[in-house]
Amino acid sequence: MTSAASVRVIAPGGTIGILGGGQLGRMTTLAAARLGYRTHVFCQRADEPGAQIASARTLAPFTDEAALAAFAAAVDVVTFEFENIPVETLIALAKRTPVRPSPTVLAISQDRLVEKEFLAGSGFLTAPFAEVEDDAQLAAADARIGRPSILKTSRHGYDGKGQVRLALGDDAGAAWRTLGRAPAVLEGFVRFSTEASVIVARGLDGKTVAFDVTENRHEGGILRESRVPAQLLPALMAEAQELASRIAITLDLTGLLAVELFVNRDGGLLVNELAPRPHNSGHWTIDAAATSQFEQLVRAICGLPLGSAARTADARMLNLLGEEAQDWRSHLADPGARLHLYGKDEARPGRKMGHVTWVSPLPKG
Ligand SMILES: Nc1ncnc2c1ncn2[C@@H]1O[C@H](COP(=O)(O)OP(=O)(O)OP(=O)(O)O)[C@@H](O)[C@H]1O
Ligand SMILES: [Mg+2]
Repeated sequence: MTSAASVRVIAPGGTIGILGGGQLGRMTTLAAARLGYRTHVFCQRADEPGAQIASARTLAPFTDEAALAAFAAAVDVVTFEFENIPVETLIALAKRTPVRPSPTVLAISQDRLVEKEFLAGSGFLTAPFAEVEDDAQLAAADARIGRPSILKTSRHGYDGKGQVRLALGDDAGAAWRTLGRAPAVLEGFVRFSTEASVIVARGLDGKTVAFDVTENRHEGGILRESRVPAQLLPALMAEAQELASRIAITLDLTGLLAVELFVNRDGGLLVNELAPRPHNSGHWTIDAAATSQFEQLVRAICGLPLGSAARTADARMLNLLGEEAQDWRSHLADPGARLHLYGKDEARPGRKMGHVTWVSPLPKG
């Protein structure tokens, strides 16, 4: 007898379609392979990190309907490893094959304004924000939010790109021009004491499992390092995990959700942004959790039971940006370091080329 639930399970041997060719898809492919799955990466170039190691690849624009139809026919489930994909692409795929997380989740998370309106409308706290689509809105937003503030393009931002900080006396109009006057969100600057994130998985059965809260340090808008355990009160960490689970449930998400948080000086939590996919701040889970975030994604979207998110060690993850990845010899010589390189050949400044994780006992520093 086959129940409805078992029909939806994609057993090992199946093929996971991944939209996007970056390192997140690459590490998902590695985790999928360990469980006996194949992956089929849909991206633009064969040398992208995920495409290099996938079992199959489709190299085409996300708008190529014939390529999408063939891709859908070749895979058992589709997921995505970045948000800059047209929602129409996911909607077209969803007519032919399961897409997890859903097109609706992508639509919310790929636009900062829509995302913040979703959060605020569902009762989750964020920094004060206002929509900016024309000069009048910019002036009104500036007056309401005050300074300091951050103007962010609603779409296509990552690693701090598409953002300008506004201090007292700065010209808001000039700042918006540097963003090409693209639709934007003006946010109040949060004087947080800590940045943290929680990655939660939600299975096909609706069960959620959250990883430990990660403490993050950014430099120039780019994640530099993540540490677990976070130096926060246990009750606050439990609250953060609970918050992330509630957001995943509100989104009716199947897959992974990363929730980036600001911890206020008074201990309050504000949601900075959502990413419905594996997240850079969760890379430590490969080396220091019972189940990695990538395996957890595979389990969630294939309808398998979620794994234990138990942490097996304290960990510190350092991103290797640009030329730093050329230091691989020293990391390989360090017995406590676990080196992960993404196979990118062009080491542009600030580009994420790899990461190193140290697990306990952690070296000093
Ligand atoms: N309202 C804010 N107040 C204070 N700092 C902020 C605010 N918004 C962003 N930042 C800082 O800039 C960093 C990057 O911002 P944000 O997460 O919005 O951008 P992003 O480009 O989408 O980043 P990523 O893709 O790396 O998550 C934040 O992690 C935080 O350090
Ligand atoms: Mg961010």
